[in-house]
This record gives sequence, C-alpha cells and structure tokens, in this order.
Amino acid sequence: MARDIELWDRYGFGHWAVSAELEPAVIGFGGIGRMTWREREILNVYYRFSPSVWGNGYACEVLRAAIKLWQRWLPDLPLVVRTRPANVAARRVAEKSGLERRTDLDCEHVIYALGW
Ligand SMILES: CC(C)(COP(=O)(O)OP(=O)(O)OC[C@H]1O[C@@H](n2cnc3c(N)ncnc32)[C@H](O)[C@@H]1OP(=O)(O)O)[C@@H](O)C(=O)NCCC(=O)NCCS
Repeated sequence: MARDIELWDRYGFGHWAVSAELEPAVIGFGGIGRMTWREREILNVYYRFSPSVWGNGYACEVLRAAIKLWQRWLPDLPLVVRTRPANVAARRVAEKSGLERRTDLDCEHVIYALGW
C-alpha cells in the first residue's frame, strides 16, 4: 500500500482496486506502475484477482483499460507486461489484449509490450 500510494503521489497514476459494477467488494488489483527497466522508463502493467472470480474476463478488462489510458496520456513510454513463463493465465491475458510478444526482451520473465 505504501509503495502504491507513493506512486500515485509522485506520478498521478498507479494501481487500482477493482470492484464489479454495483458490488462494493474489492475483487482484485491492477494498473500501471512507472519504473525503470532495462535502463528505460516504462509503464509496467499489473493485474491480480481473487481466485473466486478468475475466468470472468476481469484481467483482460483491466489491461484494456490500461492500454486506453496509455494511448491517451503516455504513449511515449513503453507499456510492458512481465510474467513468469509458467503463468499461462497471465500470458493469455496479455496475448488476448493485443500486446506484442517480445522474445528479444525475455529474461527470467516472458515479456509482452506495446511501444517499445
Ligand atoms: C492472471 C489472472 C490475473 C487472470 O485473471 P482472470 O480475470 O481470470 O483472466 P481473464 O478471465 O481475463 O482470462 C483471460 C484468459 O486466460 C485464460 N486462463 C485463465 N486461467 C488460465 C489457466 N490457468 N490456464 C490457461 N488459461 C487460463 C482464460 O481462459 C482466458 O482466455 P480465453 O478467453 O481465451 O479462454 C489471475 O489468474 C490471477 O490473479 N493470477 C494470480 C496473480 C498473477 O499471476 N498475476 C499476473 C502477474 S504478471
């Protein structure tokens, strides 16, 4: 929480708490974090949901919202999703949402990006 609040204070954007429409309970977190990676300023997209709501398309919705905001406000910085190779669900979310698979940037994570 402290790190997330610091991001919002410093940049005016950051991670979001996600609720389903008309339901107050928080079901997940996601959003855009500005950071330095491979000696470049990037926008790292993150998504994480409660297992009870997996499979409803929420992560794709969060990533699509992040892409729209990126296009509107910060297109000069690359948008990046980094995930572990075995994380099939997270990889599928990135693929379905239109990010480019960037094998040339792979490290311990597999990399998907826009605008790199
Ligand atoms: C990754 C995660 C956010 C996906 O959330 P979600 O809301 O269930 O994702 P969506 O419903 O948008 O599903 C997206 C796609 O992934 C697929 N998928 C979901 N779980 C899967 C699994 N275990 N294996 C294969 N595909 C899977 C879905 O079927 C869907 O593809 P489809 O529409 O072609 O069938 C969720 O699994 C999660 O919170 N995991 C733990 C945290 C995490 O790993 N975050 C990513 C860090 S980079």
